[in-house]
Amino acid sequence: MSKEATLTLDDKTFNFPIIEGTEGEKAIDVSTLRSGTGYITYDEGYGNTGSCQSEVTFIDGEAGILRYRGYSIEELAEKSDFLETAYLVIYGELPTAEQRATFSGKIRENSSIDERMRRMVEGYPSDAHPMAILSAMMSSLACYDPQLATNDRATDLENFDDAAASALSKVRTIAAASYRMSRGLPLIYPKKTLKYTDNFMHMMFSDPYDSFEAIPEVSKALNLILLLHADHEQNCSTSTVRMVASGGANMFASISAGISALWGPLHGGANMAVIQMLEDIHAEGDDGTRFIEEAKSGKSTRRLMGFGHRVYRNFDPRAKIIGKVCEELLEKLGVSDPCLDIARNLEKAALADEYFIKRKLYPNVDFYSGIVMRAIGIPLNLFTVMFAIGRMPGWLANWKEIAMNPKGKINRPRQVYQGATVRSYVPVEERG
Ligand code: CMC
Repeated sequence: MSKEATLTLDDKTFNFPIIEGTEGEKAIDVSTLRSGTGYITYDEGYGNTGSCQSEVTFIDGEAGILRYRGYSIEELAEKSDFLETAYLVIYGELPTAEQRATFSGKIRENSSIDERMRRMVEGYPSDAHPMAILSAMMSSLACYDPQLATNDRATDLENFDDAAASALSKVRTIAAASYRMSRGLPLIYPKKTLKYTDNFMHMMFSDPYDSFEAIPEVSKALNLILLLHADHEQNCSTSTVRMVASGGANMFASISAGISALWGPLHGGANMAVIQMLEDIHAEGDDGTRFIEEAKSGKSTRRLMGFGHRVYRNFDPRAKIIGKVCEELLEKLGVSDPCLDIARNLEKAALADEYFIKRKLYPNVDFYSGIVMRAIGIPLNLFTVMFAIGRMPGWLANWKEIAMNPKGKINRPRQVYQGATVRSYVPVEERG
């Protein structure tokens, strides 16, 4: 017998069906609440609200579990690579050898951007933030490939494979172009012979007269960082992508909105904020002890960046993987980064501190990813762009899920109005 939830309001009883997920997650389906009772639910920050039923990613925050399409993040990190995982996230299954070759081929074919887009990148001020450029350029892809962005669901879905390959491939090209432009360097064309991450490094660091040679350990670390970011269920940016898609907007528009949502320091911008914080601590001659005390003050300006997560309440499995890789890579490259020592001190001190223990605050993926990116030469203001490259498969998969849902509705939450009640217009000369 199916379970129901009972709600008593004003002496009347109402029943609501229970939805159960494949991993046993339970939700009360309140879709008839307002029509039946006149009430709505109120859940600021959506911590208790399921906005959709999704097949892409499963997280058990209490147990520190993250799985893409049923595969554990630990296993994918060990055995897969970013492109294969991207295919898995987007299409639901690991690719066969043939599917993988076709997918890689499409990514390779789509790596260059229209010459007019290159000129657009060059037109930005050199100190323009690359996230602003990325969001604008992603939206602009709809102008250069309008057949992939018609806002007609059936057509956009028919062309999904091409649109997805374009976004996944060009995101790197745009990211690298924004970096080159900011340094006054000539933009570098992609090379079709190179693998995904090596091609990105080539577009970042090659010169017309000198080809960049990728170090295998660096390619591996970059691949891993992207893989670990590939999806993370209904986070701020993915929910934004779904929200925009729910109105029928094409994929490029939806993803451009997701990029903007990612930019904030509480979300993707945290990886930049972590390094800024570590550098400040270093510059102040602190080993982290003073900062920990300040972070406990509750002031949002002095948070321990890279710590805490809305969903993970035990540990972030991505942070465990990346923390280990961070140590190995720095050792391999012979890099000595004082920020790593401070990060280690902060982690040790926070994990033993009552404030952090009580609130279940642990290092998240961003705590060590910045140190890895810095070691491989990615400049600070490109860190969040790296997150965006990694998160692309998740955004694509979630856009597709919305577009493919025949019963899908436009996402349109309600509110509890707390403003002025009705009043009459006062002519300007009578206003005090
Ligand atoms: N440092 C110090 N105190 C913290 C921190 C922190 N990093 N994070 C949360 N708290 C405290 C917060 O002040 C509050 O204390 P109290 O109960 O006394 O008011 C309590 O812990 C709960 O915090 P919250 O803000 O209600 O938690 P949330 O679930 O709304 O926020 C978060 C989650 C990730 C935004 C938050 O932990 C944070 O701001 N962390 C730092 C930024 C960061 O690293 N973000 C990256 C997240 S991982 C990448 C991604 O998926 O986006």
